[in-house]
Amino acid sequence: MKFFVDTADTAEIRELAATGLLDGVTTNPTLIHKSGRKFLEVVEEICGIVDGPVSAEVVALDHETMMKEAEILRKIADNVCIKVPLTIDGLKTCKALTDDGTQVNVTLCFSANQALLAAKAGATFISPFVGRHDDNGFDGLALIEDIRLIYDNYSFGTEILAASLRHPIHVLDCAKIGADVITAPPAVIKMLSKHVLTDKGLEGFAADWAKTGQTIL
Ligand code: E4P
Repeated sequence: MKFFVDTADTAEIRELAATGLLDGVTTNPTLIHKSGRKFLEVVEEICGIVDGPVSAEVVALDHETMMKEAEILRKIADNVCIKVPLTIDGLKTCKALTDDGTQVNVTLCFSANQALLAAKAGATFISPFVGRHDDNGFDGLALIEDIRLIYDNYSFGTEILAASLRHPIHVLDCAKIGADVITAPPAVIKMLSKHVLTDKGLEGFAADWAKTGQTIL
């Protein structure tokens, strides 16, 4: 399973990239706003930190303007992945871009039928939003399961990028279901390494090691 981080904070991205665990980055207009930085500049910097796909989202709602925005975004770097919304215009843009060899992430997916359309439009990634689904009284993980089943039924090459993940159990369940990629905030990715018994074990070993009076270096 690939790990993408969902942020436009380049300090956080650098820290995670240094672990070797990071396969890509997703951003959205809200995260760009939160960064307080110029969209094109921050995307360019992120593309220089990670080799994998960096999702940069168009903001237009019509196909023609989406194509113009995508043209600017994809020139930033070879690893830019154009993020388009799951609308008819977004799907049309997805088809045109993927036919032209550009990676596309279709975002704001809330149903398996939407995911089916994205696969037919040749999407590189489909982003079902698990947390926002849960927030609205639906079952976000059941959505991932349905999409997995449908994509496997027809051997679609579109990768399931489970998005809007809020906690480590979401990540665990997505791994069990077989999502191809997860994207999560830096804090959630860091939390995956934590366990109270790991901390307790380290404390015990440190205390006993001190009693030996030895050093390794
Ligand atoms: C995915 O690409 C989105 O940027 C993201 O996962 C949305 O998460 P949120 O619902 O926590 O805003």
